[in-house]
Amino acid sequence: MADKIYIFDTTLRDGEQSPGVSLNVHEKLEIAHQLAKMNVDIIEAGFPIASPGDFEAVKAIAKEIKGPTIAALARVNKKDIDRAWEALKYAKKPRIHTFIATSEIHMKYKLRMTREQVLEKIKEGVAYAKQYTDDVEFSPEDGARTDLDFMCQVLETAIDSGATTVNIPDTVGYSTPEEFGNFIKNIKERVPNIDKAIISVHCHNDLGMAVANSLSALKNGARQVECAVNGIGERAGNTALEEIVMAIHTRKDFYDFYTDIKTEEIYRTSRLVQNLTGMSIQANKAIVGKNAFAHESGIHQDGVLKERTTYEIMNPAMIGLVHNNLVLGKHSGRHAFKTRLVELGFNLEEKELDKAFQRFKELADRKKEITDKDLEAIVEDEIKIVPEKYILEHLHISSGNRIVPTATVGIRVDGKLVEEAACGDGPVDAVFKAVEKVTNVKVTLQQYSLNAVTGGKDAIGEVIVKIEYNDKIYTGRGISTDVIEASAKAYVSAINKLYYDQGDQIYQKEGIM
Ligand code: KIV
Ligand code: ZN
Repeated sequence: MADKIYIFDTTLRDGEQSPGVSLNVHEKLEIAHQLAKMNVDIIEAGFPIASPGDFEAVKAIAKEIKGPTIAALARVNKKDIDRAWEALKYAKKPRIHTFIATSEIHMKYKLRMTREQVLEKIKEGVAYAKQYTDDVEFSPEDGARTDLDFMCQVLETAIDSGATTVNIPDTVGYSTPEEFGNFIKNIKERVPNIDKAIISVHCHNDLGMAVANSLSALKNGARQVECAVNGIGERAGNTALEEIVMAIHTRKDFYDFYTDIKTEEIYRTSRLVQNLTGMSIQANKAIVGKNAFAHESGIHQDGVLKERTTYEIMNPAMIGLVHNNLVLGKHSGRHAFKTRLVELGFNLEEKELDKAFQRFKELADRKKEITDKDLEAIVEDEIKIVPEKYILEHLHISSGNRIVPTATVGIRVDGKLVEEAACGDGPVDAVFKAVEKVTNVKVTLQQYSLNAVTGGKDAIGEVIVKIEYNDKIYTGRGISTDVIEASAKAYVSAINKLYYDQGDQIYQKEGIM
């Protein structure tokens, strides 16, 4: 009989450690709801001691999310563990995930501790966590570079002290599939009490082998995989959830494992994480990339038309990709619009539906053919996660190759229309400057990206911006068939998030209030 593989999602913890990613509590909750819908077994919601924001997010997720176990990270010391529990205690199924480094390099240079001291800390930390909950996971950080004999001692101590899951991280993504699989095999054979715990793995992708290393570990006895949606995480990221899940599913003939993931939710989860983190994935990304199911060569297209499985090892519908190119047009009614959204998995409340329908009508006036991708973009844009202090009402641009670009914007500030104009180095710069004049906040633009949602000259443009204020990054997204308008919307949306996070103090700092 096939063995179950537990999917431990760390998008909100390790994933959020990706450079330039910063999610607010509402965004984390939104992602957590989607992860629960996708049926992950464990959600690692954050590292509560790391910041008040992390603490609040773990607490909110512990209170609100039903279904998965909710985990929080803590070093093996009482202060960290107390803080983790303080946030986690509301969860129906709480897990404390505690860790300390065990490789010679980390112990000598980072911790400045001996092996004996580290073993003592593990004993104390795991036992302390165990007072709060039965479900305790222990991770020896930089595990893949830890001496095997010492690793066996570490794990035996952790399990004796109460750990029910022992997670072996390849923290720096150094291992290779054969080596890592062998490491797990040795652990399974040599740690005397290993049958009292589940072996987990947590691989980083520095050499592009995180998924392969995780699969090799599973073949050798691991039964939990730690992973993140779209493979986000520190540096080159973590094992990609969608890749490991679909590898297990597609190659069950070879692995004889299964997961409880609702694979049809993979595509939407990937989109949500991209939209909220502002980390777009490359077109050829396995499973969820734009080209993952696109066939370019004539021979391949011919083959797929004759029999899909000639060139497709997975059915796109399995990950929730519905193929339906031309769906609605100018004359489609609200009912048809709603029906299609429901088919695409969006269940909007009446008010949201009204707004989305209005956007659809506006778009239908500008764009002849409205596809599922357009509908997705509209709906994702309509779901506002933070309140909107600023709403872009109108803009006017004057630009050309021999004039100074000038922009005028009209923005509703708490409902009141304010207009401003500015010049810039280009039309986008002029718009951003005019927006800044209205909002009175000086931010640094860290990233600007523009993508076409669909093909064709009248395609919707999607702009993602990252702005920095006070050492914090805020991501905004805007869509429109007009790329300048999409840029302005993205900028305003990032400023709304900044305002939501830092409130009126942003004006005091600027000497405005
Ligand atoms: O990469 C790592 O070692 C970690 C641990 C805290 C599990 O993220
Ligand atoms: Zn990690």
